[in-house]
Amino acid sequence: MITTYDVFVPPTMGYGASKRIGIDLAKGGHKKAFMVYDKGMWDFGIAQPIIENLKAAGMEVVTFDKVLPDPPDEMVEEAAELARSSGCDCIVGLGGGSSMDTAKGVNVLMKNPPPIRQYFGVRYDLQPGVPLIFIPTTAGTGSETTNMCVISCVSQGNKASVVSAATIGTHCYLDPALTLGLPKGLTSATGLDALAHCVESLTGGQQNPLSDAIGSEAIRLIHKYLPIAVADGKNKEARENLMYASYFAGMTFTNALVHAGHALAHTMGAHFHTPHGIACAIMLPGVTEWTALNESKKVRKVCECMGVTIPEDADYKEVGRIAKETLRGFAKSVGNPSPKDLGISLEDFLSIIPAAMNDTGLALCPYRMTAADVKEIFIDAYDA
Ligand SMILES: [Fe+2]
Repeated sequence: MITTYDVFVPPTMGYGASKRIGIDLAKGGHKKAFMVYDKGMWDFGIAQPIIENLKAAGMEVVTFDKVLPDPPDEMVEEAAELARSSGCDCIVGLGGGSSMDTAKGVNVLMKNPPPIRQYFGVRYDLQPGVPLIFIPTTAGTGSETTNMCVISCVSQGNKASVVSAATIGTHCYLDPALTLGLPKGLTSATGLDALAHCVESLTGGQQNPLSDAIGSEAIRLIHKYLPIAVADGKNKEARENLMYASYFAGMTFTNALVHAGHALAHTMGAHFHTPHGIACAIMLPGVTEWTALNESKKVRKVCECMGVTIPEDADYKEVGRIAKETLRGFAKSVGNPSPKDLGISLEDFLSIIPAAMNDTGLALCPYRMTAADVKEIFIDAYDA
């Protein structure tokens, strides 16, 4: 049996990896690629070499350069119409999470009629699309190796996901050269998102030896290299290791899932438009302290991966406190702001607690989190 959790997207890794795409696709018999990216990819000169590489291998390329953040369903449907009508036989998603989500959405609609909103949820009944290739240009979302396609539904005013075989990539190119120019803020936020993927996966209810092995290594890499990349964006070693850590983190959370940190961060993002990685890093320390109440062994492991040794006789409270301080100190060290720094009042911040309690992601939390727990986490995080 194949499930949507059996996800492995084979990577070609290393500086210059993206230059293999043309020859690989042509060798596979592909003739016409549909390439999805946002205008920034063109403005920063990242899209052109990939297009030229595909053409040099004898392929035709049809481009869609109108990717928007939080991809709206209508935009995905417009892109899919172009991909279908032009007869493309493979899809290339170039960029961050939004470009890759758009590429996934297009692939869902290659063989299944629109609108895409009818496919929200975990779907085993969709027709497979065409080969789907990812070239990430940030190190954080891990979207290149996840089965989730997050779409904003314009008519319903919400965000939802399609999880299906059609949203899983066929191959990805992890080329750290494409991240060398990323600004500090984006480097920090995306790296902290990847860290949250690992920490939540390692401490959640679906934690298992496989996700532990991959996620632990990703935490070590992020802990070592994110501060270096934030301080010096051109550091090749740091960029390379973060690119791999992001991929490992994506594998880890596809396998073992995230939980309360992401659920609270989604609510914060929806109400205050806080970038995803920043919101995750704000919520993660308090959620991890709370998690130690029942899972102090798992939380200990996270601390160890971040180079912190916890005394053997420490009780769960001590483990939780150390984990919280370690994670918060790390986020601060790479410049992550607090809700107060973002100009949010404490009253407004606390007002989203009822919405947070309704976030479906809280269901992934192995233990019941009460509104009082959330309030404590919010007050603690507000000016930290
Ligand atoms: Fe995330």
